[in-house]
Amino acid sequence: MVSEHTNTHIIILAAGKGSRMKSTIPKVMHKLAGEPLLSHVLRASAAIPRAIKTVVVGEGKDYITSYFEKSPLAEDISFVTQAEQLGTAHAVKLATADFAEDSKVLVLYGDVPLIDPVTINKMLDLLVSCALVVLTKEVFEPFGYGRILRDFHGNIEAIVEQKDATPDQENIREINTGVMAVRGSKLDRWLSKIENNNAQGEYYLTDLVSLARQDDDEIRSVSPHSLEETEGVNNRLQLARLERHHQLKLAEKLLLAGTSLADPSRFDQRGELIAGIDTFVDVNCVFEGSVELGSGVYIGPNCCIKDTRIADRAIVLANSVIDQSSIGPGAVVGPFARLRAGTDLAENSKVGNFVETKKTTVGKSSKISHLSYVGDAQLGENVNIGAGTITCNYDGDKKHVTEVEDGVFIGSNSTLVAPLHLSKGAFVAAGSTITKTVGDDELGIGRAKQRNISGWTSPAKKVKDD
Ligand code: UD1
Ligand code: MG
Repeated sequence: MVSEHTNTHIIILAAGKGSRMKSTIPKVMHKLAGEPLLSHVLRASAAIPRAIKTVVVGEGKDYITSYFEKSPLAEDISFVTQAEQLGTAHAVKLATADFAEDSKVLVLYGDVPLIDPVTINKMLDLLVSCALVVLTKEVFEPFGYGRILRDFHGNIEAIVEQKDATPDQENIREINTGVMAVRGSKLDRWLSKIENNNAQGEYYLTDLVSLARQDDDEIRSVSPHSLEETEGVNNRLQLARLERHHQLKLAEKLLLAGTSLADPSRFDQRGELIAGIDTFVDVNCVFEGSVELGSGVYIGPNCCIKDTRIADRAIVLANSVIDQSSIGPGAVVGPFARLRAGTDLAENSKVGNFVETKKTTVGKSSKISHLSYVGDAQLGENVNIGAGTITCNYDGDKKHVTEVEDGVFIGSNSTLVAPLHLSKGAFVAAGSTITKTVGDDELGIGRAKQRNISGWTSPAKKVKDD
């Protein structure tokens, strides 16, 4: 259930350089499951209806803002610039507005991509009865994180950063994940009191805890719903580990819903994937954008499938690359087929090995079995395109269409020069270059006549005789 949180402000911190990524692009723009880290955080915040969202950017801000200019995810986002990274409290201060008395402020990190809306909602719910909620967790290796200090009664007293921690405090295993929810009415006053007299000379947002404590305001903590959701990304090793972890979760979801994966650790989903039952996906397949697989579908190894619908019982054999296409029930594709944007295969049709198609419809039970290029073409039902046939769809200026009616047979190694129309039942002789319409049930031959010359001497034979 989605909680109703009116007057909620979400501030996403993304101004840091991320120097440990050793990259020319800002850290939050590195991709997890095919999308920038920041997109994942924006999607989680989109689950809070009507929240006012601000992203604090600094390093690489132009790169970030120009990417999100076109993204529907950032439609209701404002960006503010933190020119100098003076600390997390300084960044939050730049994003604060005139908060209403009953407003709630949630701080998220742009480099903690898998935060779960369930957790966010839980934190916002708790703000009804306290002034500050901190997302904490117990870890085996707390090094680098802010540690949670609790008093004798178990109440949170303060957060101490790694660089400011005493040896005793370093042993604490409960850490600050960074995600916080705070009552808007308190935030402004507390932020103005935060100083930078610490080991890093930064304004720490974590100082909100001791300030709330000084005001006798209650502080509550929440634990993450799942372990991966508070994992931050600081270097490429952490990013790669988080990617695998996330992919395994996606794979588990599919497996439990009735789709078989030959190896869940060799599976990549970069977007939305819906699959029916008894569908099988072999190793090393990459699914991008929005992909829908029906039931009883077979996907062979090493296939890349993007923004495509594949109907029930269709078979995609190894090493096929499919983009923005639709594959009908029982159709067979590959191995080594390339279906480019606008390919639409009807029921029981076939596109075989080393065939490339583009903006082409292939009718019911029609076949392009081997070594062809078919672009800007409309093929009817029961058409057979012989091996080595190509459509010449481009004249250097415009693209032209090839229309092939039902039951046409194209012999091997034919060149179909578009615009071209081949009528019902037409037959094209192998090796033809066809430039003119072939009528109903006509035979089209467009090739040089064979001549046999007897009594000739081959050059090789001549040399021998000399
Ligand atoms: C912070 C927390 C620490 C917590 C850890 C969890 C503070 C003082 N410390 O430490 O308690 O355990 O996260 O990962 O908050 N950022 C800005 N502007 C700045 C500084 C940072 O936008 O001036 C952004 C960064 O881009 C990043 C986030 O804030 O997204 C956290 O900053 P970072 O420097 O990584 O903080 P940590 O030292 O990891
Ligand atoms: Mg960090």
